[in-house]
Amino acid sequence: DLSPIDRAKYAASRRAVDFVEDGMRVGLGTGSTAAWMVRCLAERVKAEGLKLQCVPTSTRTAELGRELGLNIVTLEEAGWLDLTIDGADEFDPELSLVKGGGGALLQEKIVATASDRMIVITDAAKEVKHLGAFPLPVEVIPFGWQASRTLIAELIGGSDVMGHEITLRMNGDQPFRTDENNFILDLHLGRIGNPRELSLLLNQIAGVVENGLFLDICDTVIVGYGDGRVELHD
Ligand code: A5P
Repeated sequence: DLSPIDRAKYAASRRAVDFVEDGMRVGLGTGSTAAWMVRCLAERVKAEGLKLQCVPTSTRTAELGRELGLNIVTLEEAGWLDLTIDGADEFDPELSLVKGGGGALLQEKIVATASDRMIVITDAAKEVKHLGAFPLPVEVIPFGWQASRTLIAELIGGSDVMGHEITLRMNGDQPFRTDENNFILDLHLGRIGNPRELSLLLNQIAGVVENGLFLDICDTVIVGYGDGRVELHD
């Protein structure tokens, strides 16, 4: 007895793992939806004896995959990937994404862009006309992070002037740390007018490692619904 939201995530995951074929090198995303996908994939591997190389996008996903018996390898070992399946926090009609709600955006972007194909699995609540209602995660180097924050604030119009807010992501009373030991700044933008320009400008700031905008990376979005239906966008 799953909740409607979990049924939606499960439905999208089931459909997504249909795209996996024997011998493939597969990128495994991070987050609650991707966790469903890892379970669905492990079931297929068990039932059909598929030989896969699976590259995780976080220590969390690596642990889950190993527990479920998947063949977990590094991106270096795999070299290049046939397919990556991951969740997202938002997607728009162009299949542009905001990712990083779980803090794994850097490895997720490296893995997705080292893949021939990226499939995103979501529920319908994440479909938006314009990206930005979900705060945009930006991974920054801890050294001088306040200065990076100031430069980002200037870029997006000044946090005090325009009412845009930039928050340091916390984990209890300590800054949240990514798998690379960096910090995450969440940009509360409301609406991102020009994602391409924003992504380029953010990544030009010295202390910025990567941002959560995934542009021209995702090939297919599979939307799951609570009644088990799925819709494909590509
Ligand atoms: C992880 O860093 C994110 O990019 C996830 O893909 C995103 O947060 C989706 O997570 P859920 O599937 O839990 O909503």
